[in-house]
Amino acid sequence: MSIDLTGRVAIVTGAGGGLGREHALLLARRGAKVVVNDLGGSVAGVGASAGAAAAVVEEIRAAGGQAIANAASVTDFAAVTDMVEQARSMWGKVDILVNNAGVLRDKTFAKMSLEDFRTVIEVHLMGSVHCTKAVWNYMRDQSYGRIVLTTSSSGLYGNFGQSNYGAAKLALVGLMQTLGLEGAKNNIRVNCLAPSAGTRMLDGLMTDEMAKTLSPGSVSPGVLALVAEDAPNRFILCAGGGSYERAYITMTRGIYVGVDDQAADTVAQNWEAIGDRVTETIPEGGMQQSRLEFEKARLAGGVNQA
Ligand code: NAI
Repeated sequence: MSIDLTGRVAIVTGAGGGLGREHALLLARRGAKVVVNDLGGSVAGVGASAGAAAAVVEEIRAAGGQAIANAASVTDFAAVTDMVEQARSMWGKVDILVNNAGVLRDKTFAKMSLEDFRTVIEVHLMGSVHCTKAVWNYMRDQSYGRIVLTTSSSGLYGNFGQSNYGAAKLALVGLMQTLGLEGAKNNIRVNCLAPSAGTRMLDGLMTDEMAKTLSPGSVSPGVLALVAEDAPNRFILCAGGGSYERAYITMTRGIYVGVDDQAADTVAQNWEAIGDRVTETIPEGGMQQSRLEFEKARLAGGVNQA
């Protein structure tokens, strides 16, 4: 059974090049009508040009698909709202949102200006928040929505020189965790993609062989699966070169230490036991930590009834 997006309307941000372009082309090939958004600036987010999005729209149309271009910056909520209205007035709705737009301002934290930190947070985190906010109530009202947030291994696991980028990217996982819960009853599913591809963003960081193998187009099937009718919810999908993995946020069972004067010393002597992964679980929600800790205190006779 193949995934069919006929009749679906999708917005892909940052789709003028790199991964976003491939996502847009694939969604259109599978029948979606696509808003191709791109500000058209440099990797660092400097400059702008409507040409990047327009060229991808031409490609989609030449292949028989339907697409319109939009040059809004995802950092501009008013412009993003207009983009969503553009899609709705053209095609009546928005079913799919792929938040892909991004910039880099790499430096070690010691040398990084707050401006470079804020810019990266503004594009990745607030850009995704803006686009998601602009479609959210429509998706609730129509009881259908598929949203992808583009996270990164740099956020999940860290990467030297990318404190701003990593912070922004892991924030998107936090956004997914809660939006996935809030949207579920209205059939809105929110997932994260952690891609790995030889785009201009990774210029000089990959060998030619690696860049060719980890082509942007090899990632897009993962996006297609995440925006399908049968999409999962709250899945962190890692994808690159035709391989797929899942990243999890987990919690160990840990130990009960108690609250006496020696608690800190006991913690310091037990890092290994606290971190023992044998009893690790994947919490379904934040309260699970509190419930586990209360339960452990109860079992140890440490419940405070005062
Ligand atoms: P890219 O630089 O080719 O694509 C990013 C696109 O976003 C560009 O076309 C750019 O013009 C657009 N853009 C930037 N700021 C924008 C704004 N304010 N509003 C609208 N569009 C804007 O790089 P790539 O690799 O295709 O990146 C796509 C996404 O994948 C990004 O979110 C990136 O952080 C993420 N990613 C990429 C990885 C890789 O291996 N290439 C690894 C992990 C995450």
